[in-house]
Parts: sequence; structure tokens; C-alpha cells
Amino acid sequence: MNPIIESLYETKHAENADGELMAIEPASILPEDGNMLYSLVRQHADGRSLEIGLAFGLAALYMCQGHIDNGGGHHTAIDPYQEKWFKQCGTLNVERLGFAESFTFLQQRTHEALPALFRDGERFNVVFLDGNHRFEYIMHDFFYASRMLEVGGHLMLHDPWMPSTRKATSFILRNLHDEFSLYEPALGKPPSFAGSLYAFIQLAMKNPYDLGTARIFSTRRFNNYIVFEKTSEYDIEHCDIHWDFYQPF
Ligand SMILES: C[S@@+](CC[C@H](N)C(=O)[O-])C[C@H]1O[C@@H](n2cnc3c(N)ncnc32)[C@H](O)[C@@H]1O
Repeated sequence: MNPIIESLYETKHAENADGELMAIEPASILPEDGNMLYSLVRQHADGRSLEIGLAFGLAALYMCQGHIDNGGGHHTAIDPYQEKWFKQCGTLNVERLGFAESFTFLQQRTHEALPALFRDGERFNVVFLDGNHRFEYIMHDFFYASRMLEVGGHLMLHDPWMPSTRKATSFILRNLHDEFSLYEPALGKPPSFAGSLYAFIQLAMKNPYDLGTARIFSTRRFNNYIVFEKTSEYDIEHCDIHWDFYQPF
């Protein structure tokens, strides 16, 4: 992997615009998450990627490295706190990687940035959602990002240990299965029947009102991310008329 990424994980610190070192934990993704992002980008030659939540730039480095190894591509990142919380470490790291010319950074909240990207007709092949983790923000970000995702493209949600991410996943699997399916290579080995039952009981005890989500998360083994593949583009007019097929999630 790239020496900049290696050094960030080794030292656990990133250098900010004032030359000070900032601890990259606990805000940053883990190397295994980055490796999956890298492999997703590698599947889309000359692709365009979008990331929500740049932070210290770990995911961006993996994704941009994927574009570099593909021989071309473009990365867009959104983060309202890049200056305030991260003192530009993320954008600086992308510069240090030598990818600044093919990188667009928007220091905005997603509810400001995403509608503008959509209006401008942007399309992406890989999307990583790791911004505000409240349910309504995940769904907002997913709504816009999924509309801009090409068919055959991949979208990763981070942190399925959070109830909000689990609920969003459950919604997508229960109600958008015509458009999105789980990307199998991102899943772990399925649990045994006993393991699955044990996990179901644990989850059901934690939240007895959320058995549908418990079933989804006990029968599959997820990493700290969930990857969806977009399998078709829905007919927008059909979607504007029909509403009565929704399943509880
Ligand atoms: C867990 S960190 C992201 C870690 C990062 N993806 C990485 O590669 O290590 C969450 C990020 O979401 C950003 N964020 C918070 N609220 C946001 C919002 N409304 N829109 C976009 N990003 C947001 C934070 O500033 C922070 O950088």
C-alpha cells in the first residue's frame, strides 16, 4: 500500500496545515475498510468516486490510490468540518498523494452539497457514506448518492454497529431490492445456524421492536461496512405514482 497510508496507521497521527500532529483515531476508518474501498475503485476504470466525511483523509487516500492504479479517475469529498475539526489534514493528505488535480473538495453539509451535485448532472461509480450517522442523514445521503450512482456501481455504508446504519440497511434490503443488492464479496463467511440464532437472540433482546433488522444482521456476517451494488435504475415516474408496496423495515 502507499507509504503515506502506511505511515498514518503506523504513527496514528496526521500532520495538519500548521505542522502539528493530530491523532487520527477514533475518527478514521480501519485498513480493512480502506482495502475494500480500494478494490471497489479498482473495478471502475477511469471512474468517479464520491465520499461523504473526509476527516483525516484515510478513505480518500485508498480511493485516490485506486484511481492512480487505474491510470485515471476523479474523487469528490464532502465535509463541513475539514477546517474546523481536522485542520485540513484530509485535503493535505490527498495533495501529498499527488492527486489534487483530480480531486474536488466541498466544505459543506451534505444537504447543501448533494442537491447541487445532482443538479449539475454528476454521476459516480463508487460512493462511500461516512458522514453524519443519524438515520435521517444516512437516508438523505443515500437518496442523493444512489440517484447519482451508475448502474453497476457500488455504494458503501460505514458502521453497521450503529442502529441507524442497520435500520437504513434494512430499509434498502426490504424496499429497494429491485435497484440494490448486497455485494457478496464484501460479506464475511455466513454464520452457522447456532451462531445465527445466538446473534438473533442477542439483537432481539437489545431491541425487541426491531426483529426484521435483527434477522438481517444475524443471518449474515458483515464487516464494519456494507456494500450495495446498484443493479438497475428505477423509472422515476413509476416511483412518483406507486407507493403501496412498502414492507416494514
Ligand atoms: C467518522 S468520520 C469519517 C472518517 C473518514 N471517512 C475516514 O476515511 O477516516 C465522520 C465525518 O463526517 C463528517 N460530517 C459530519 N456531519 C456531516 C454532514 N452533515 N455532512 C457531511 N459530512 C459530515 C465529519 O466532519 C467527519 O469528518
